[in-house]
Amino acid sequence: MKILITGVAGFIGSNLADCLIEKGYSVKGIDNLAYGVKEQIPEGVDFHQLDIRSKKIYPLFEGVDHVFHLAAKNCISDCQADAVETADINVTGTVCVFEAARRAAVKKIVYAESSAVYEGSDLFPTPESEIKPESFYAASKVASMYFAEAYKKFCDSRFTGLRYFNVYGPRQDYRRTIPPVMSAFVIKLLKGRSPPIYGTGEKKRDFIYVDDVNDFHLQCITDARTDGKVYNVGSGKNYSVNEIYQIISELLGIHKPPIHKPELAGETEVTLADITEATGLGWQPKVDIREGLQKMIAWIKRNVA
Ligand SMILES: NC(=O)c1ccc[n+]([C@@H]2O[C@H](COP(=O)([O-])OP(=O)(O)OC[C@H]3O[C@@H](n4cnc5c(N)ncnc54)[C@H](O)[C@@H]3O)[C@@H](O)[C@H]2O)c1
Repeated sequence: MKILITGVAGFIGSNLADCLIEKGYSVKGIDNLAYGVKEQIPEGVDFHQLDIRSKKIYPLFEGVDHVFHLAAKNCISDCQADAVETADINVTGTVCVFEAARRAAVKKIVYAESSAVYEGSDLFPTPESEIKPESFYAASKVASMYFAEAYKKFCDSRFTGLRYFNVYGPRQDYRRTIPPVMSAFVIKLLKGRSPPIYGTGEKKRDFIYVDDVNDFHLQCITDARTDGKVYNVGSGKNYSVNEIYQIISELLGIHKPPIHKPELAGETEVTLADITEATGLGWQPKVDIREGLQKMIAWIKRNVA
């Protein structure tokens, strides 16, 4: 079984590649290394440094059974700063990947949407029907969804859209100007510095450990019930940024007051996934927040700090 992953040098892509290789799949990967890191692409991946917006990617899809399309510009504040590039990478790039897959008659395309599509909703937990994008990033993900809908009608490939909530675990991108909260907190505290908290810290997020996400990735390529569907991929529980800071401080045994900074643009107050659709397939998130954070801290201690 041959699998192609776009965004293979990124956080979710590199963890997925590890998981697929361990299961015996043959993995090809594409990434332009704009945000990803070459060193974290697992050994055994047939890697191609290319931009998903280039037609040069087309031949790589020949003979591929399934595609995971994860490459994207995905930091909300970066996307707010450049709507044109956001649309170029996340919409044009996505269509280029769908087109490459169609031409090569790929059996299945699993592509990344985001919980950001629910930004304007105040229904919690949020079901898949509740699409209310606000930011440029969210708009680009909804546009991808509509292109997937159109491709579904006009080609034989099967599609599954995944609305990831806040995924965390080893290799979470800590190099960005504004890194995700968990890696930012752990790295700063281990270095003896106070991490920043933007706004009051009362924003709540649904966090899901990357191994649980990979279990669902595997389900998408082995379970025909996922064909043509879109799923929330979250834990169904949420924690405030302050609560996460508290748990990380306890796990590290390091207690420092955070530095409060102004609110970031485009960030919603609450996310909480309604995971009825995904759990209805037999999938369940298994890793609890303390266990997941402990694994992530161990990885950061070994590889970063
Ligand atoms: N991590 C999360 O919590 C989360 C939440 C919701 C949605 N998502 C979505 O899941 C996907 C993967 O996210 P991630 O956290 O692994 O992000 P990431 O930034 O770690 O990985 C994305 C990868 O895409 C690559 N890329 C970007 N533009 C490219 C281009 N034009 N051509 C080729 N490669 C390009 C980057 O270099 C990077 O390696 C993204 O589509 C993201 O929007 C992630």
